[in-house]
Amino acid sequence: MTFVRIANTADFDGKRFRRYTLLAKKLAIFKEPDGTYYAIEIACKHQNWDLTTGRIEGDIATCPRHGWVYNIKTGECLSHSSAPLRRYTVKVEGDEIWVSLSPIETEQRHENH
Ligand code: FES
Repeated sequence: MTFVRIANTADFDGKRFRRYTLLAKKLAIFKEPDGTYYAIEIACKHQNWDLTTGRIEGDIATCPRHGWVYNIKTGECLSHSSAPLRRYTVKVEGDEIWVSLSPIETEQRHENH
């Protein structure tokens, strides 16, 4: 699994998430209350609107464009039968945050073959 350094932990002081572009994909890294991180695609599966520009209550994000609803942590679309948002592996080394170049599902497929 290939990782790239994308942020420092200090970048998240006072912030729940930050947006990044990785290989032309829009994703966000979220910081959990317990200090762990996760990374997820933030382009709505309907028409690619940035989901983090809409309302996020708990883990539930509502796309501001046409109202599709997602679990922003698992990626599951709760309002339509859509493919889930892609998730990425995050690892923290010291104060550096690294994210996998490939989505988790793709990595798992490669490991299985
Ligand atoms: S672009 Fe998100 S619901 Fe249409």
